[in-house]
Amino acid sequence: MRSFKAHSLKQSTALFSQKKITIAATGVQWGKTILGVVWLKMLMHQFNDPEDAFIVTSPTYKILSQSTLPPFLRMNEDIGKYHGQESSFQIRGGGKVWFRTNHDPDSVVGITNVRGILCDEAGKYSRYFWDNIQARSSICKAPVMIVTSPYSLNWLYKDFIKKWMAGDEHVHQIANIVMARSDENPYFPKEEYEERKLTMDPRRHNMIYGGKFEKAEGLVYSHFDEKIHVVEPFSLPHGTRYFAGVDWGYTDPFVIKVRAITPDGTHYSIAEFYKTQLRSGKMVEAAARFASMWPIETFFCDPSRPDYISEFCAHGLTAVGATNAIQMGIDRHHELIISDRYYVFAGTCRYTLDEYEMYHYPEEKELNPNQDGKDELPVDQANHCMDCERYVTYGTWDVVKRRKRDIITGIKTNDAFFPAAPDDRKLLKEKKYWEKDGYFE
Ligand SMILES: Nc1ncnc2c1ncn2[C@@H]1O[C@H](COP(=O)(O)OP(=O)(O)O)[C@@H](O)[C@H]1O
Ligand SMILES: [Mg+2]
Repeated sequence: MRSFKAHSLKQSTALFSQKKITIAATGVQWGKTILGVVWLKMLMHQFNDPEDAFIVTSPTYKILSQSTLPPFLRMNEDIGKYHGQESSFQIRGGGKVWFRTNHDPDSVVGITNVRGILCDEAGKYSRYFWDNIQARSSICKAPVMIVTSPYSLNWLYKDFIKKWMAGDEHVHQIANIVMARSDENPYFPKEEYEERKLTMDPRRHNMIYGGKFEKAEGLVYSHFDEKIHVVEPFSLPHGTRYFAGVDWGYTDPFVIKVRAITPDGTHYSIAEFYKTQLRSGKMVEAAARFASMWPIETFFCDPSRPDYISEFCAHGLTAVGATNAIQMGIDRHHELIISDRYYVFAGTCRYTLDEYEMYHYPEEKELNPNQDGKDELPVDQANHCMDCERYVTYGTWDVVKRRKRDIITGIKTNDAFFPAAPDDRKLLKEKKYWEKDGYFE
């Protein structure tokens, strides 16, 4: 398909958008990917120096190879060659197009002279991948074209769609957004649209064909509601205890989350650290920094890396392998949420909030024929902060009870396990802390 003519005003608006960011968020088969590919091709004509680079991103290799790459290659087969090994397309006499996926979210970092970035199905990207793409675009002053179906109320919705719809001045200044239904593509079979409307759950139909943003289906923590569970940070009371959850990763992110539990048993997520490609020394550094800010009693760690756990301990951090009973951990965390005993401090945990909107049980199409969705564990994605949440919730489940019991039976306790809020440290040393703490009747 060499010649291309936009099929609608919306498609041409997106195609000729001069804004820093253009978003086409539409129903499936509207013509998003083709639009993105044509947009990029125009830039490839405009910037034809061998130093010029372009980036095409996709959520996974599978989506890249099945739906992003084929239209790109069809459109560009006459002007260059694709090199599978380094996932790049060499433009004859010109620059290179780099293909990257959310599987390695740091892989866009370091690509220089970027002239344009096409993000296919970006609604499935982690916030972290998007942060990296956006940073690349700012550094190189390259425009970004996001083409996607709506999937959830994640960063794409919160940072752009929602603000755009609310008339946010900044978003209107930097972005052009078009939204459309599948059947606004004249090449899309109308009968299919109508037929599916009759047979599908309306919410699902609205999202897949209607291009409407809705809370994702099958969310593990579907009761988590930012309007209720995100609160403005406040000064935590005396007797608050601090814990952390740790999820190891290299290509996947390494994550630490800090949890404060106030004397009345309410849990607050108060900090997070989220980064890929860190060596263990840097991980220890990040944990030590948190430990210097709050008296973290225990780091509940993903048990799969005892070597890292030992290294934390060797550096004076109290780290233990967490219980990795996934469903049980999820049940307990769910219970904290629905009983209004779990909150997140606003402005402190952006990756966590994104994962709450993304962490989901498999849809039918993600299952093998012999699997039953009801018995399945969540999809192994967007689960890094979520695993930390589970480790801490599980690890501290009976912490209040245990603390009471230990006090009552007079078990000798060590300071590391019963610290106080930072300004209580001196008191704690003087061993007067427990008498002063009115919490234990
Ligand atoms: N302007 C257009 N002219 C011709 N065909 C188009 C146009 N826009 C979309 N199509 C066709 O519609 C179909 C869906 O397009 P695609 O980009 O794969 O959709 P999406 O990415 O939105 O699912 C493809 O066969 C594509 O070639
Ligand atoms: Mg597509």
